[in-house]
Amino acid sequence: MCGIVGFIGNNDAKKIVLNGLTRLEYRGYDSAGMSLFNNRYQIFDVYKDEGRVAKLVESTKNSSYSNIGIGHTRWATHGKVNKENSHPHYSQSRRFIIVHNGVIENYQQLKDQYLSHSTFISETDTEVIAQLIETFSQTLNVENAIITTLKLLHGSYALLVLDSMDPEKIYAAKYKSPLIVGKGPEGITIASDLMALVGYSDDYHALDDKSFVIATRDDVRVFNLNHELLPLHLKKIEIDNADTEKGEFAHYMLKEIHEQPAVLRRIASNYFDKDKSLIDPQIIQSIKDSDRVYILAAGTSMHAGLIGKQLFEKMASIPVEIHIASEFAYQKPLLSKKPFFILVTQSGETADLRACLVGITEQNYKTLTITNVPTSTLAREATYFLQLFAGPEIAVASTKAYVAQVAVLAILAYELSSKNVNIKYELGIAAAAIDTFLDSQKLIDIVREKLTHRNCFYIGRGLDYFVGLEASLKLKEISYIQTEGFAAGELKHGTIALIEEGTPVIALISDPHISGNTRSNLKEVQARGANTLKIVTEAVQQKNDEIVLPNVHPLLTPLIMVVPTQLIAYYAALERSYDIDKPRNLAKSVTVE
Ligand code: F6R
Repeated sequence: MCGIVGFIGNNDAKKIVLNGLTRLEYRGYDSAGMSLFNNRYQIFDVYKDEGRVAKLVESTKNSSYSNIGIGHTRWATHGKVNKENSHPHYSQSRRFIIVHNGVIENYQQLKDQYLSHSTFISETDTEVIAQLIETFSQTLNVENAIITTLKLLHGSYALLVLDSMDPEKIYAAKYKSPLIVGKGPEGITIASDLMALVGYSDDYHALDDKSFVIATRDDVRVFNLNHELLPLHLKKIEIDNADTEKGEFAHYMLKEIHEQPAVLRRIASNYFDKDKSLIDPQIIQSIKDSDRVYILAAGTSMHAGLIGKQLFEKMASIPVEIHIASEFAYQKPLLSKKPFFILVTQSGETADLRACLVGITEQNYKTLTITNVPTSTLAREATYFLQLFAGPEIAVASTKAYVAQVAVLAILAYELSSKNVNIKYELGIAAAAIDTFLDSQKLIDIVREKLTHRNCFYIGRGLDYFVGLEASLKLKEISYIQTEGFAAGELKHGTIALIEEGTPVIALISDPHISGNTRSNLKEVQARGANTLKIVTEAVQQKNDEIVLPNVHPLLTPLIMVVPTQLIAYYAALERSYDIDKPRNLAKSVTVE
């Protein structure tokens, strides 16, 4: 959470930092700030306030040219959303200016132990870092003052530090929170996400934990905390500028929903050479050698994992347990003798999942991360990694990453099975099926007519039940309609008490074996006044079914059933004029536990 960007070089730092912050705003949007060097007064100016990056663009409108700057967009953890708690923060004399992503768990203890003489302006843990650096700089050179500070910090950090006495350097450091250094013809950009580097850097180096960086206009050096120089492992940035923009769409979410057929086709072409799978055989062997697969994930990725469990069990007869990452991390269940862990994550940075990975790795178990971000911490730290190829997902509500996760889990399940299914072909069929109804206007009218209450239910059985969980998360997180996903047969065991005249109940029906049961459950709620809607596949279609989707392979129905539910969420939020790409209280990439 939070986004940070810094630039030093022979270009306009304000432009580069603001552009970067705009691209990273989906990571947190409570407040935004930046610091630029004021050549006239030879000081670093700090601009910050609660609100969006657009406000920061206004407040920095008249700033003078600076070739060095750092910026931050915040998702509040310590302290209210206000100007004082916004980043950058500075030390007491204003010599050191810093932006920080992460959480310093022992900040109160550090304050008591080292900083009783200091005056604090904010309630943040971050300000402690600035004050510590200043305190240590009274007896140590700057580099050692920063390294001494870093060694005292418990928690997580990605940090950028400016020193007013040396405006030709940016210092940076990383532990647990992501930080990437980019090199381009005009300078060095350092950011918490590759997206901020696109257009300014050709190559990047993803920093390891406990790295300390000194960047100048044309050089960057990386050290460990013993001040030993580390090699740079530069890789080409392969994100297009167009991937970071909305193009013809009103919102990133709508763009990303429309990209789903292309994502499925890209996955099919990246995972197969003709019809031969390109998945590392060691991954398949490691899963086969295990006696149980454990899928760990959070939120939407957990919902994709639930589908993955069904696919593994149905296709490959491999038993799978699925756990919510934040629970697994601290309430470890009894494990089987030879477990294999699959971590499903769009961002590859989810802190709850990282906590799981650290614990699992300590026990020498093998792990596979399935993620959209190859540079991410979880991609780098797991034994194996598989890429989602969904392209940057910018809307906070995940859509195309979910579809990609289900597709990659399906490929893995088919690889593990002895069944003779041409999964590449089936993914192509699913992509074409999605294409056929993406532009259906019917959903807009349905949303206006049906979603008139403050609550809503999705019901389904089998795979449809799990799609219903994802559908309800999508609807609630962007339209703020209180939505629950239920196993259709479970409503009558209590929840049906909530059904009253007009309550929207949306049934997902794709499995011919159990469609009759779900339809009966729908009748039960209709009898109590529910305003119902059916989303079905052609395989189970009946007269008066409102939304009918083309047939796909029976185990891949989640790939298409989810799409109208994403659009329903989108239109419900649009109807209410909510900020679709940046719903309240949320942030993409949840890097705090
Ligand atoms: C909801 C959503 C979240 C994420 C969750 C895990 O639309 O995006 O529920 O799925 O925060 O994030 P990742 O997949 O990055 O680990």
